[in-house]
Amino acid sequence: MKMYHLLLLLWLGAGSAVAQPPAVEKAAFNPPDESTIPAGPQGDAIRLGQKLLFQTSLLLKNNSGSALNCTSCHLNGGRQPNAAPWVGIWGTFPEYRARNAKINSLQDRINDCFERSLNGKALPYDSNEMLAILAYMHWLSKDVPTGVDVEGRGFIRITAPQPPDMERGKKVYADKCAICHQPDGEGQYAPNGEVIFPALWGDKSFNIAAGMARLNTAAAFTKANMPLGQGNTLTDQEAFDVALYFTRQPRPDFAKKLQDWPKGGKPKDARY
Ligand code: HEC
Ligand code: HEC
Repeated sequence: MKMYHLLLLLWLGAGSAVAQPPAVEKAAFNPPDESTIPAGPQGDAIRLGQKLLFQTSLLLKNNSGSALNCTSCHLNGGRQPNAAPWVGIWGTFPEYRARNAKINSLQDRINDCFERSLNGKALPYDSNEMLAILAYMHWLSKDVPTGVDVEGRGFIRITAPQPPDMERGKKVYADKCAICHQPDGEGQYAPNGEVIFPALWGDKSFNIAAGMARLNTAAAFTKANMPLGQGNTLTDQEAFDVALYFTRQPRPDFAKKLQDWPKGGKPKDARY
């Protein structure tokens, strides 16, 4: 072998070593303890934000078209890994999203969930309510370095061994979900209207343009978190079958859906 061949090989070897994607550093999932909420006005704002997120449909009636709370999906006040937690979220925004092909602020992202997941209306960015929600998410993120995802951000990724099936999904729903979410999918409510078990479809549920209306997202959420308190007991196939069943039931439309993914990148499981 000529010398320059050897050098070339060495260079290629070094080059490919450099080209390896760096291991993505994630922060451990360690939500702060409630006792670390400070006293005084800052603490009051954090507590108000927490309350609004847990009781959204009662306290922010003008902004929620559904009967869901933010914490109906972001379980345990955004402190549950693999249920789209808010721990660390402060330092990950602003973030580019293909759905609107823009850099989104955390306020934009929050309002997306108001308009879609809650089928409601956006909050003004400088409203006390928006600032309180931001204060809560800021506090939740205080121990996570800026720009670093936590372990368990978003949802787990699962795939269905076989194509998902409506009839099998209907049976899983009847056996494992209907007792809480009700056979008609409308959920259960206290006399004051407070949600006990949230709606999976119908007028009280998320609209067609919500993340949860997408099959993969609904399956991943279900697998890790449902039936409540028995996460990871369904098989991946059951999670997909039941997700197909409940995402395909009637639910509110979203007029602005046609503006989504203006520059492409629409995921395969989007319904429109
Ligand atoms: C019907 C379920 C549902 C409800 C209710 C809901 N969300 Fe979401 N939310 C989602 C899904 C799904 C995602 C997308 C997570 C992903 O793509 O990994 C999400 C993402 C988010 C994110 C970004 C998380 C990240 O890791 O980037 C924030 C912030 C957020 N929601 C805030 C809210 C707020 C505030 C409310 C109440 C106004 C709310 N959500 C209500 C389902 C819901
Ligand atoms: C023991 C009662 C119970 C059972 C059984 C149960 N869930 Fe839930 N589910 C809940 C509660 C309560 C919430 C809201 C969590 C909160 O507010 O803390 C929820 C939230 C949800 C959500 C997000 C909110 C929404 O309305 O879209 C989905 C989706 C969901 N469940 C699907 C299922 C599926 C699918 C099954 C069956 C495999 C199931 N659940 C079984 C109690 C239950």
